[in-house]
Amino acid sequence: MTARVAVLVGSLREDSLNRKLAQALVALAPEGLDFDFVETGDLPLYNPDLDGAEPPAPWTRLRDQIRTHDAVLFVTPEYNRSVPASLKNALDVGSRPAGQSVWAGKPAAVVTGSPGGIGGFGANHHLRQSLVFLDMPAMQQPEAYIGHLGTLLDAEGRVAEPGTRDFLARIMAAFRDWIGRGAA
Ligand code: FNR
Repeated sequence: MTARVAVLVGSLREDSLNRKLAQALVALAPEGLDFDFVETGDLPLYNPDLDGAEPPAPWTRLRDQIRTHDAVLFVTPEYNRSVPASLKNALDVGSRPAGQSVWAGKPAAVVTGSPGGIGGFGANHHLRQSLVFLDMPAMQQPEAYIGHLGTLLDAEGRVAEPGTRDFLARIMAAFRDWIGRGAA
């Protein structure tokens, strides 16, 4: 059975290195996974006052998109040792109204990328803290803190270094197995 995976990229930047990393991960994924990129840049900031009979259309769009997927792959930069606000906002939007979270039970993988050497470790673990509360089983291994992103990807977003390419492929193979063990 093929699992449908929603890909959420934490950067809104047009030339985002993390978006390129996400595309590289998708390209290296094994059979059995289908991917859709779910956009988050148009979501108004979550405000419970707006979450009535007619919530903002982008909120409804995000919720509907996540509902139709079996799993979620997060690929995000680190902003000030945490996740970018746009990604946190998407988590908040999808988590409400109370009792109707679209995230609950969906297996997740967290990949963080940075031009720096620490690979977004802080963002990775802040995101995992939210995933615990959202009841999203997050893959534990391999951990994916991808550093030196600026030199890792060529102009076409390809990963030239074979060891790194193998590592990214291993992440995606493990994610397929992780999804297979769980809800999908
Ligand atoms: C950053 N950056 C950054 N990098 C990092 O490794 N740790 C951090 O805490 C931060 N903090 C941070 C805050 C803000 C507001 C910005 C805009 C940037 C640098 C960041 O990793 C770099 O800009 C990446 O290129 C962002 O990812 P994308 O947009 O290329 O995917």
